[in-house]
Parts: sequence; structure tokens; C-alpha cells
Amino acid sequence: MPELKVVRAPVAENREVAPGVFLLRLEGRFVAEPGQFFMLRAWERDPLLARPMSVFDLSPQALAFLYAVRGRGTALLANLRLGDQVKLWGPLGQGWKRVPGRIALVGGGMGLAPLLWTAKQFGSPLDVYLGFRHRPWMVEVFRSLADHVHVRSEVGAPGCTQGLVTEAFSPRGYAACYACGPKPLLLELHRMCQEAEVPLYVSLEERMACGVGACLGCTVWTRSGPKRVCSDGPVFPAAEVFFDALP
Ligand SMILES: Cc1cc2nc3c(=O)[nH]c(=O)nc-3n(C[C@H](O)[C@H](O)[C@H](O)COP(=O)(O)OP(=O)(O)OC[C@H]3O[C@@H](n4cnc5c(N)ncnc54)[C@H](O)[C@@H]3O)c2cc1C
Ligand code: FES
Repeated sequence: MPELKVVRAPVAENREVAPGVFLLRLEGRFVAEPGQFFMLRAWERDPLLARPMSVFDLSPQALAFLYAVRGRGTALLANLRLGDQVKLWGPLGQGWKRVPGRIALVGGGMGLAPLLWTAKQFGSPLDVYLGFRHRPWMVEVFRSLADHVHVRSEVGAPGCTQGLVTEAFSPRGYAACYACGPKPLLLELHRMCQEAEVPLYVSLEERMACGVGACLGCTVWTRSGPKRVCSDGPVFPAAEVFFDALP
């Protein structure tokens, strides 16, 4: 088991950027590869477990997360004020590796969280595809990093083409595609990429306890056997994943 170094970092920013979606910036010097995550807790005993969050952005002074309020843990995160302390450990997991050539990053809803740092680190040539249910958010930060940013809203929004992100996307011509989002999106991207014979790498989500490969709580069954999402993933080649067995 890797050494678990828990650090405390003060909140430098915690603001709502879209309904129920917050940007949390923690002060400190951190490192992370694209697609890696940290375990966070901003409470003592309840809830029992820390919560996994992907690295959204990184600078020499701060580490940023983008999170949706879903339950008790994220509601507590949303109450954090400037200067409050967050305990965290990481970076954790195996992230995305850049392949040479033009690549596509595809995010559905909160699935865009790991894509900004990835776009920054991977660099051009890359295109970004983002799908939202309603009004898009956090799209502008991708514009200076990607050659093309394609945005779709399922129900439609001012200035945004209505439809599914998969309707804007074709894997043809890409050396590889990288995706994060809900299971139906990943499944459809897998189908499209398989047909076009383009490698797809997906970031999976599972409930986590330790986050470092010790408890086996996040194990998923893959074509090469059982794998821990926290330490063997969260990124896996889509061809390895049994999508039907995912939560
Ligand atoms: C590697 C990894 C990276 C993640 N990165 C982000 C991120 O950048 N931004 C973000 O908003 N969320 C991210 N998540 C999901 C996030 O960890 C959960 O939303 C969070 O733990 C919910 O905690 P809670 O106490 O608010 O909700 P809970 O009260 O624990 O649960 C509320 C609801 O969310 C579901 N849920 C909780 N945890 C997970 C999970 N891990 N996977 C799927 N469903 C879950 C529960 O089934 C329940 O329906 C990530 C998850 C993983 C595994
Ligand atoms: S959360 Fe413990 S092994 Fe993955």
C-alpha cells in the first residue's frame, strides 16, 4: 500500500458556478497527472469516509476541484468558507496518457471535471466535446486550450445547439479519445470508437473507501480480471470495461 500522506489546505475559493456545481480552490503546492484524483474531507467523523474528487485545475499556488452537490459530503463541501481547512490525500490513481496525434476529450455533465487539467497538460492538437442536460457551464475555460470546442444541450439553451454530445462527435480521424461522464454516454462512445477502430480511454466512478487500493471496495470486473478503480484506474481502456456491470 502506498504511503498515505494527509495534508491540510485552506480554502481560497468555493463558489457556485452553475446550479448545484461548485468550484473549490485549495491553497498549496500540489502535483497531479491528468485524470488523477484526491480524497477530500472537510469534516471530522460524519460522514465516515472521505470523498474522491478529480483534479480540475492546478497552478503553482493552488489545486482546484469542480463538484456537484449530491449528498451529505458534497453539501458539507459547499458550506466551506474562505480559510476553512480541508484534509486531502493524493494524487491518486492512474490517469490518462497522451498519445501522439489529434485527440478528442469528451465530457458529459460533471464528467468535464477531469478534462480541463487534461487539456492543459496534453495540448494541441485536441478537440473538446461537452454535453449538458440544460444550460452549459464552464465551457469558456476550454476555448483557449482546444482547437475546437463542441457543446450540446439535451433540452436546448440560448446560443447552444440542442442535442446529445454524441451527435456532434465522430471518432474518425482521432488518434485516441478520452471520456468521462454517465454510463450511457461512455457506452455509446465505446460503440462508436470500436466501430471506427479508435482507442477510447474512460474514467470510471465507483463508491470509494480508502482510495489507495487497500480495501477492495471499488473493485470492478474487467476483461483482464478484477480491478480497483482507485488504484488500477480510474482510467481504463474502454475495451477492457464491462459497461453493463457498472453502477
Ligand atoms: C475517481 C473519482 C473522481 C470523482 N471526481 C468527481 C469530481 O471531480 N466532481 C464531482 O462532482 N464528483 C466526482 N466524483 C463523484 C463524487 O465522489 C461523489 O459525487 C461524492 O463522493 C458524493 O458524496 P456525497 O456524500 O455528497 O454523496 P452520498 O451521500 O455519498 O451519495 C449521494 C448519491 O451519489 C451517489 N454516489 C456517491 N458517490 C459516488 C461515486 N463515487 N460514484 C457514483 N455515484 C456516487 C450515491 O449512490 C448517491 O446516489 C468522483 C468519483 C470518483 C470515484
Ligand atoms: S477504495 Fe479501497 S481499494 Fe479502492
